[in-house]
Amino acid sequence: MAKEIKTIGVLTSGGDAPGMNAAIRAVVRTAIARGKKVKGIMRGYQGLLEEEIVDMTEKSVADIIQRGGTILYTARCQEFRTAEGQKKGADICKKFGIDALVVIGGDGSFQGAQKLAHLGIATVGVPGTIDLDIACTEYTIGFDTAVNTAMKAIDKVRDTSTSHERCSIIEVMGRHAGYIALWCGIANGAEDILLPERYNHDEQRIINHIINSRKMGKKHHIIINAEGIGHSASMARRLEAATGMETRATILGHMQRGGSPTCKDRMYASIMGAYAVDVLCAGKSMRVVAYANGEYVDYDIDEALAMKKDISEYQFEISKILG
Ligand code: ADP
Ligand code: F6P
Repeated sequence: MAKEIKTIGVLTSGGDAPGMNAAIRAVVRTAIARGKKVKGIMRGYQGLLEEEIVDMTEKSVADIIQRGGTILYTARCQEFRTAEGQKKGADICKKFGIDALVVIGGDGSFQGAQKLAHLGIATVGVPGTIDLDIACTEYTIGFDTAVNTAMKAIDKVRDTSTSHERCSIIEVMGRHAGYIALWCGIANGAEDILLPERYNHDEQRIINHIINSRKMGKKHHIIINAEGIGHSASMARRLEAATGMETRATILGHMQRGGSPTCKDRMYASIMGAYAVDVLCAGKSMRVVAYANGEYVDYDIDEALAMKKDISEYQFEISKILG
């Protein structure tokens, strides 16, 4: 039988995402309600290795559900990728009496959690990334806020693009994934959407599309470019030279990661944070919380990391018809 957990640690790792605070709040309050002590680990695995560990109470997480970012701060930590770093991290957990850990982050952070689980610390991952690129789950904390932030920004660029009868290339985040680009492309009615998963480097096709749209009387040409493709500024220069249509590039950047989380992000983050604690209380370890087929579920981390997901071919095809 699994040893009863007394103290649960919580950390945020990798890129921050709106809603992480709601998840931290849910972890802390659910754990306390289940009779556990909670310790907050600052700055992800970096803070663990530097023993930046604080006691958390219900009050530590008051007034944060509406705030973007993460009150625990976040970091990327090279040392934790090494076997020595992981052993040191597990030893520090034991020193502080942390027998279980909730890791809020992306795939990379889950790999760290997997390593700690092998070293005797019960772990569970909660998907937190604006990129929506975690295969086992249909939802990741932060995506909804980020995609809404990007959508509103693109609407504004579209206004000025139309007034000046320009082409605009707008680059959105997503690392190697095109989910933010696809959603914004459809929601903003973009003429072209460039996704890393589908891009065939055929710039002539885009040039022809711009020229034909112009002939048909279109006043602007909005291209949503995923950062996984990048090179928006040089692409703008090439498209302008080839089409004669003035072209500007806008990189939305880190504004997409900030801001108050949407209701959806607060809700899913709250349930996922609580669910993670209950997974640990049930004696499970090396799990990832996910949202699949309308339900909150949990998967083995190895199984979750081995899963693959791809952009919907149907949604991509429809985006071309609509734009
Ligand atoms: P995300 O969690 O958003 O995917 P990263 O890939 O940057 O972000 O990973 C966050 C952190 O997780 C890394 O800085 C590192 O400390 C840890 N990590 C990533 N991959 C591994 C790994 N293979 N083994 C151990 N720790 C890892
Ligand atoms: O994973 C979230 C994300 O915002 C990606 O979309 C982007 O590629 C990356 O993080 C940017 O990381 P950094 O904040 O280190 O520039």
